[in-house]
Amino acid sequence: MDKRTANQLNEKIKGKSVAETLKYVSEEFKLKIRFASSMGVEDQVITHFIAENQLPIEVFTLDTGRMFPETYEIIEKTQARYNIKIHIIFPDAQEVEKMVNEKGINLFYHSIDNRKLCCGIRKIKPLKRALEGMNAWITGLRREQSPTRKDMQVIEWDEGNQLIKVNPLLEWTEKQTWDFVNENKIPYNTLHDKGFPSIGCQPCTRAIMPGEDVRSGRWWWENPETKECGLHAKK
Ligand code: ADX
Ligand code: SF4
Repeated sequence: MDKRTANQLNEKIKGKSVAETLKYVSEEFKLKIRFASSMGVEDQVITHFIAENQLPIEVFTLDTGRMFPETYEIIEKTQARYNIKIHIIFPDAQEVEKMVNEKGINLFYHSIDNRKLCCGIRKIKPLKRALEGMNAWITGLRREQSPTRKDMQVIEWDEGNQLIKVNPLLEWTEKQTWDFVNENKIPYNTLHDKGFPSIGCQPCTRAIMPGEDVRSGRWWWENPETKECGLHAKK
């Protein structure tokens, strides 16, 4: 797989719905593909499409060890509602242990380097492991969410991971996402009702006020331009 294949696929799926896109890449084009779910509302929509259409796409979530209790609850609820298995991926225990003993249990508040180290050990490395043997992955990214996401394509080449990346919900608005969730009674993380539009790790996510940027509660002490944990870094 390469950038050209990604561009060709992106042309192919123009005009297709989310379900059709997911079906096309997994069943027709037969990409070796997995879905990375953070269990956020966008990801729940994608899980809904995968489960309702019984698509051959495994869903996994990266448990950093610092998630909110509400996130663990929604994992269980989602598995029960759709009768699917959500694979839980953990970071390497020894690496986490070494990091927190050397740098502190809440190291991420002390410097951007520390924050990136923590995201690297707790998310990026486990993501690489979860995607071993795959040639593509699916995310719940939406263009509106961040300045760093405005130039993305629904299907694009992920240079950092050397994989095709499928972002089926890219053009969906926040309202469209919520209308769909409500119409289809899709279970969602109850933190979304408490001022958390974007949910990551507990110590690095806080509630926002109405009207604030949707990602302003993530790593709120950093600039919007640096606020990607590296899962979606352009390299
Ligand atoms: S992040 O880069 O800032 O953490 P964000 O929370 O906006 O990302 O989520 C964007 C997409 O990244 C999600 O839709 C999902 O595909 C993937 N993602 C983020 N966090 C996780 C996680 N813990 N486990 C699996 N996938 C994740
Ligand atoms: Fe660590 Fe915070 Fe990154 Fe989670 S979001 S992996 S706690 S730095």
